[in-house]
Amino acid sequence: MKKGKKLYEGKAKIIYACAEKNLVIQHFKDDATAFNNQKKSVIEGKGILNNRISEHILTCLSQAGIKNHLVKRINMREQLIKYVSIIPIEFIVRNIATGSLTKRLGIEEGTVLDNPLIEYCLKDDKLGDPLISKEHILTFKWATKKEIEKIDKQLNRINDFLVGMFRGVGIKLVDFKVEFGRLKNSNEVILADEISPDTCRLWDMNTDKKLDKDRFRNNLGNLVEAYQDVARRLGILHEQSNIRPIKFPRPKAVKLKKNK
Ligand code: TMP
Ligand code: ASP
Repeated sequence: MKKGKKLYEGKAKIIYACAEKNLVIQHFKDDATAFNNQKKSVIEGKGILNNRISEHILTCLSQAGIKNHLVKRINMREQLIKYVSIIPIEFIVRNIATGSLTKRLGIEEGTVLDNPLIEYCLKDDKLGDPLISKEHILTFKWATKKEIEKIDKQLNRINDFLVGMFRGVGIKLVDFKVEFGRLKNSNEVILADEISPDTCRLWDMNTDKKLDKDRFRNNLGNLVEAYQDVARRLGILHEQSNIRPIKFPRPKAVKLKKNK
């Protein structure tokens, strides 16, 4: 699929036009940012892993009847996706309290929530993506009541599905962020975002080891190794892919015995 002009560049992805009118190409960058772009780095291989992990998760969600923008992965870094107009809201679902929830409300880190908590943030970098209420969404017409009702239902279904999928591979889904968009031709609202360790918090079931972008946010290191661990557990990365070249010690100089 031939890439057309760049339509949009975000912090971790670029969207390009393509020959098909209602489709676009999504390119996953290696760029990592945190705290509204204040912390930045390039982490080699991150984009490739997110492309594969997100493809796997969105394909599973489609099979479970949750429509989303993925058409197909086209190469190591790119996917063909449906062209949507993005609703300017970041939808966050939380199962365990951490991150901004603990800071904002003083809830104890690690508190397991009785029910998933949905939060809405306005997608506006200049304002620092502020938390908003449903009433703000309706008052300022960022989405309709019907759309939000549908999205809330889908968020709960997505959460149920992901919690189960990750539990099966020994990972706790702590929280995640997704966006939704309206299809260009029908205005139907569908899930239109990556789902990857960049946009979820994933903790190892037994040790609570962080396997997500908090490794970058909190300077924990080994981000690629953690994302590889997630991919391997989901069955999309073969064991061999992580084998590093083995460094053999230099052979010691051997003194040859002179033949007597
Ligand atoms: P938070 O605790 O920092 O509000 O993050 C909640 C979840 O949303 C967490 O899984 C990380 C994800 N997230 C993004 O994907 N993009 C963002 O810009 C932010 C702030 C959070
Ligand atoms: N991606 C966001 C940023 O760069 C924040 C985050 O993921 O923590 O600002």
